[in-house]
Amino acid sequence: MHILLFGKNGQVGWELQRALAPLGSITAVDFDSTDYCGDFSNPAGVAETVRLVKPDVIVNAAAHTAVDKAESEQEFAELLNATSVAAIAKEAEALGAWLVHYSTDYVFDGSGERPWTESDQTAPLNVYGETKLAGEHAAALCSRHLVFRTSWVYAARGNNFAKTMLRIGKERAEISVINDQFGAPTGAELLADCTAHAIRVAQNKPEVAGLYHLIASGTTTWFDYAQRVFAKAREAGVALAVTQLNAVPTSAFPTPAKRPHNSRLDTRKFQQTFDLVLPDWTAGVDRMLTEILDK
Ligand SMILES: NC(=O)c1ccc[n+]([C@@H]2O[C@H](COP(=O)([O-])OP(=O)(O)OC[C@H]3O[C@@H](n4cnc5c(N)ncnc54)[C@H](OP(=O)(O)O)[C@@H]3O)[C@@H](O)[C@H]2O)c1
Repeated sequence: MHILLFGKNGQVGWELQRALAPLGSITAVDFDSTDYCGDFSNPAGVAETVRLVKPDVIVNAAAHTAVDKAESEQEFAELLNATSVAAIAKEAEALGAWLVHYSTDYVFDGSGERPWTESDQTAPLNVYGETKLAGEHAAALCSRHLVFRTSWVYAARGNNFAKTMLRIGKERAEISVINDQFGAPTGAELLADCTAHAIRVAQNKPEVAGLYHLIASGTTTWFDYAQRVFAKAREAGVALAVTQLNAVPTSAFPTPAKRPHNSRLDTRKFQQTFDLVLPDWTAGVDRMLTEILDK
């Protein structure tokens, strides 16, 4: 099997380089690659890359993920998150290849408390969500597609919420954290490993093509997540300045893009179709914390 990976250096892309390796040979590109065009602001360029590489499977981890910035650069976000996805999807369809693509819970308006299912009505609150929804439709131009909606993605490499909390927890006595957004922090490692498994299943069962919700199990808030980070840091002997953690509503931190309150996703379709069990969010977060606190 030959796999073409776009966005190889993002949180998920980096883990995919590892997780996809046992499946076959990989051509991995990023937006500034020189061998093949991996720049999603260039739809004709990425389409040509697909034609030249002729992969069996394309995995696209490239995206415009700057949610607040997208509000002021809608056309650019649309180009990366939808137009170029359509371009590679059409090439994939012509080749008979699979296209694996990632989307987000931001396609929903975040109302209610029930976990969203794949068939629930979408209603994005912000430009990023709108362009990612357009990207889902674009990916479906390839009949052999797997689109995974995920949320609250973190990785040990690069910046993440836990690292930010640890940094400011060493500097400040009082910290306020949002407590009215509900979701499950989902590790890039878990996403990459589940992707590799799903690709393997899809090789023998083309009928699994479709849209899936893929996040860790359980639910938390940013406030509870921060509490866990500080508890683990104290256990590890890290000296923290923070003595007071305040639970505040989203309105306490105004941002250009509106965020959904309910990011819970129902993952039963993914778990049943691919015969996998998605672990509780604490398993991956504790592992990541051990890695960063050990340093
Ligand atoms: N992060 C989350 O919480 C989250 C939640 C739900 C869904 N998702 C989805 O999951 C997927 C993977 O996201 P992630 O968390 O791995 O995000 P990420 O770390 O921001 O990765 C996206 C990658 O795309 C790259 N990129 C930026 N502009 C590009 C361009 N013009 N051409 C090609 N690549 C470009 C980025 O490079 P630079 O870093 O250099 O800009 C980055 O390496 C995306 O589809 C995202 O929408 C993410």
